[in-house]
Amino acid sequence: MTPEPATGKPPSGLTGHTGTHSAATVIRFTRVSKEFTRTGLALKDVSFAVNKGEFVFLTGPSGAGKSTILKLIFAEERPTSGEVKIAALSSATMRHRDIAKLRRKLGIVFQDFRLLEDRTVEQNIAFALEVTGAPRASMSGRIGRLLTQVGLASKAQALPRELSGGEQQRVAIARALVNDPLVLLADEPTGNLDERATRGIFQLLREINATGTAVMMATHDLDLVKRSDCRTLEINHGQLVLDSAEPTPGAPPVTR
Ligand SMILES: Nc1ncnc2c1ncn2[C@@H]1O[C@H](COP(=O)(O)OP(=O)(O)O)[C@@H](O)[C@H]1O
Ligand SMILES: [Mg+2]
Repeated sequence: MTPEPATGKPPSGLTGHTGTHSAATVIRFTRVSKEFTRTGLALKDVSFAVNKGEFVFLTGPSGAGKSTILKLIFAEERPTSGEVKIAALSSATMRHRDIAKLRRKLGIVFQDFRLLEDRTVEQNIAFALEVTGAPRASMSGRIGRLLTQVGLASKAQALPRELSGGEQQRVAIARALVNDPLVLLADEPTGNLDERATRGIFQLLREINATGTAVMMATHDLDLVKRSDCRTLEINHGQLVLDSAEPTPGAPPVTR
């Protein structure tokens, strides 16, 4: 197991987490590199840790490696070297059956929403809930609560094409919450949205974060990043060039 840093760890009371090992770290990259056969090195020696309940922006220009980091977390890709650790699951020892276990701890949303176009809002979420094996009897109550949480209680019977982009992204977020994830990953979730919808989605992600879910949001919207005081990891050409929480990893976000 990777040793915890000697300093900079919040006292367990701060996070409300009193686990006996590995404290509150939910994502840990240790010297991670990723090389694609056709395009070369996408990530070079990237190390960082994210604690339970943190909100982290992943920024950097197009092609910097943001999506690759999220794919490594989601085990859609494996590191060429180094270790990706999500809760107690390590890329170094991950077997095929662990991938499903890993993904039950995660929720993910994308720029293009990826909803089932021929299903209603409610059916989109029900489909994801069925995959988790949720008991049918509790499903409609759970769907109602999720839709209320994302502010779409009145749209349960709508089809995706009957919704605005911001509303479609809210459905995708509700769907990503069916597992009550430890970490919500968002890959450019506001990339297709206007400024007002962007603010709404960011606000919603902050609300979800406030309930204790760690959120990692990849974005190149620097205005959004600058207006917030959230921790920022900046990637450029596959390298981590800034961690705004340094030099005390795990400390509360730096106010800028
Ligand atoms: N599946 C893949 N196969 C080959 N190269 C890839 C693949 N995915 C990403 N890359 C390359 O890795 C680099 C980083 O891509 P990506 O993580 O998508 O960047 P970002 O999300 O920051 O725009 C790019 O050079 C891209 O071409
Ligand atoms: Mg990307």
